[in-house]
Amino acid sequence: MRTEVAIVGAGPAGMLLAHLLARAGIDTVVVETRSQEYVASRTRAGILEQSSVDVLTAAGLGDRLRAEGHEHRGVYLQWPGERHHLDFVDLIGRSVWVYGQTEVQKDLVQAHRGPVLYEVRDAALHDVATAHPHITFTDRDGRAQRLDATVIAGCDGSFGPSRSAVPTSARQVYERTYPYSWLGILADVPPSTDELIYAWHPDGFALHSMRSPEVSRLYLQVPNGTDPADWPDERIWSELANRLGHGQHDWTLTPGPITEKSVLPMRSFVQTPMRHGNLFLAGDAAHIVPPTGAKGLNLAIADVSRLANALTAQLRDNNPRLADRYSDEALTRVWRCTHFSWWMTTMLHTATDPFEAQLQLSQLRWVTSSTAGATGLAENYAGLPL
Ligand code: DHB
Repeated sequence: MRTEVAIVGAGPAGMLLAHLLARAGIDTVVVETRSQEYVASRTRAGILEQSSVDVLTAAGLGDRLRAEGHEHRGVYLQWPGERHHLDFVDLIGRSVWVYGQTEVQKDLVQAHRGPVLYEVRDAALHDVATAHPHITFTDRDGRAQRLDATVIAGCDGSFGPSRSAVPTSARQVYERTYPYSWLGILADVPPSTDELIYAWHPDGFALHSMRSPEVSRLYLQVPNGTDPADWPDERIWSELANRLGHGQHDWTLTPGPITEKSVLPMRSFVQTPMRHGNLFLAGDAAHIVPPTGAKGLNLAIADVSRLANALTAQLRDNNPRLADRYSDEALTRVWRCTHFSWWMTTMLHTATDPFEAQLQLSQLRWVTSSTAGATGLAENYAGLPL
């Protein structure tokens, strides 16, 4: 097989890249180790920045998003006894949208007409620094395959083969682990809030998010290594009520049937550069952020938008300038979001150090009382323009 751009990974990064390149008349083949059903149904983040909405809309993927998604002007930040609303629209003239990654994925799969090979095994990247990069794999019928390409795009997340196809001598890794995880639930109950609540609490962080007017998504800070089996539904709702301030300021949390429960680890990770020869990395293949602030999917969309422009210029107009600048320019945004995610995470998650707790509360008071502080958070949360 031969194509212009071989794309590893059929998640939102790989599928959006395939879709954008197809619109520019560029051939792609996407290979994916998982099944289509698995990729379509896994639960991920639910917040789109303004610029992500703009990219999806320009790509012809905005109709269902606008019909079924929900625009939020801002978020609530709270700590015991206080709840403050930050209005991003007033502060910076930008908003965010509640629209699950699962929905973005469905829209992409439906829109894209090109070949996507699911359930491949043993995918391996070869000769990526030469003019003849290729991928070998076993297809789902058990046949050995070779896919030759002009360029390979690694959109295969942190467990895929692309990241490590860059030789160790040519890559640098930056990493941070955190001493806590999230216990996340989906529940069939209308959200108890109109916009997201980020709550600092001495017993640990809690977040009230949502997927639709009927479905709530909530998270609790838990220790690393937590077994979801130790958290029966009643314990989860009672801890959420405690940390989110049920019964205070005329506010109540309505519990409901929990349909999904899982523990999410937290990590910051950046691998540089994001290009090696004819291999380009995008999304989680190059970087991971902790979930606080919901930057992961948005960063992947920003990478892919930039990469699609770069590859179109290179392959259609024989102009390599954007491709040559791809890594440096993408990394500027990656590091901004890496800092913001780290900052939101470390401001809101309680640790054992009382000094740190006072710094966190001081920071929260500043962000909610100073226009300068609030504007900084709004600018990062709603996303800098591409
Ligand atoms: C969601 C996840 C986040 O990490 C966040 O900051 C906000 C919302 C969510 O899954 O809805």
